[in-house]
Amino acid sequence: MRAPETTAWHSASWQTRVAQQQPTYQDPQALERAVAHLSRLPPIVVSWEVDALRERLAAAQQGKAFLLQGGDCAETFADCDSDQIAKKLKILLQMSIVLLHGLKKPIIRVGRMAGQYAKPRSADNETRDGVTLPAYRGDLVNRPEFTAEARAADPALLLRGYERAALTFNFVRALVDGGFADLHHPEYWDLGFVKHAPLKDAYHRIVSSIGDALDFFEGMSGRSVDESRLVSFYCSHEGLHLLYEQAQTRFIPRQNRWYNLSTHYPWIGMRTAQLDGAHVEYFRGISNPVAVKIGTAMDTNWLQSLVTTLNPQNQPGRLTLIHRFGAKDIENALPRAIEAVRATGHSVLWVCDPMHGNTETSTGGLKTRRFENILKELDTAFRVHKEMGSYLGGVHIELTGDDVTECTGGARGLTDADLQRAYRSTVDPRLNHEQALELAMLIAERNPSRRMERTR
Ligand code: PEP
Ligand code: CO
Repeated sequence: MRAPETTAWHSASWQTRVAQQQPTYQDPQALERAVAHLSRLPPIVVSWEVDALRERLAAAQQGKAFLLQGGDCAETFADCDSDQIAKKLKILLQMSIVLLHGLKKPIIRVGRMAGQYAKPRSADNETRDGVTLPAYRGDLVNRPEFTAEARAADPALLLRGYERAALTFNFVRALVDGGFADLHHPEYWDLGFVKHAPLKDAYHRIVSSIGDALDFFEGMSGRSVDESRLVSFYCSHEGLHLLYEQAQTRFIPRQNRWYNLSTHYPWIGMRTAQLDGAHVEYFRGISNPVAVKIGTAMDTNWLQSLVTTLNPQNQPGRLTLIHRFGAKDIENALPRAIEAVRATGHSVLWVCDPMHGNTETSTGGLKTRRFENILKELDTAFRVHKEMGSYLGGVHIELTGDDVTECTGGARGLTDADLQRAYRSTVDPRLNHEQALELAMLIAERNPSRRMERTR
């Protein structure tokens, strides 16, 4: 596949290309009004934050930091609830402290949060008992109930989604700025049911060792550890619904550049990464750090053209490739991808998503993932990057702070039979709190690094 001729970019130039996975709206005028309204509303993030994140990702690209990106497969409007948000933040903070301790590198924390409301689907329609309706595409588009009314794409949901993203991130920001993410107080992040978790002792040992290290440093130097470098938290979502993304795309005269200010770090999903497609066109013109999910279907030319189209200047931190090959295929596919990118002479940040290549159907018919396959894909990713003189700079995980039973395995040995008990995902199965923390511990254990490196 070849990249098409490039033309002048503007925030709507994607409309000249084929846009996959976009909903069909019955009332184009109502859609136009909603998009116009969204274009006038203030941004959710600001360009300084976006630029700061790009610099941190540039450090991860060089092996001097590590990205932890995680959250729900799809957020729902109902998740915009203080308890849900705090729980998700808590598990990500807990994982980050475990990774910091094990990897001895700054951890860049990014939530799949505050805007992860639109989902790609394998079919446009769904049929049940002879009735065919549009597929559920996420709360930004329609509702999951199987009725014609709920499944109709509703432009007002674009505004409701923007509002919930803003409310969610407002709360996250307030918690982080107010000291909730302070490494001196990891007890704030304890989740009630952790008291009985199989790994609680190991986790508390790590926490007290970080506390001792902070006390030691602060005692020796007479200074407190620079919180501003430790507590940042960024948001990300799949940049799927292009009218939504376009409406929040702003030209910042001071920078003389365009930014998508609905999120810090949008990514292009596997199903919308066509070189001549609308998503690649849109993403090439924004200044945010951007990511693309890559899978086994992507050949060398496709991958190389994505790299040069999305990051023609080879700017550090600009482009992340999130590979999601599956435990079975990573061994073959990853070396080829690394070679292909290397041949372009460009650098990327490599991140492993060990979730989306390992989805299967359980004996009871539920979508699930096995913890052992997730771990195996991650292990292989670390090993292959190392063998090839490359660096795995992060992980991308679907998780929740709740005690759900959606993925099997882990320290509690969940089986297919357990899945019925607390299966809540409307889309992909997520690691529960214990499984997520266990994964962080296993990553940390396998990848010791000698000393804390500074990012600047
Ligand atoms: C996702 O991240 O939820 C997703 C749909 O992933 P992918 O595009 O890799 O299939
Ligand atoms: Co998913």
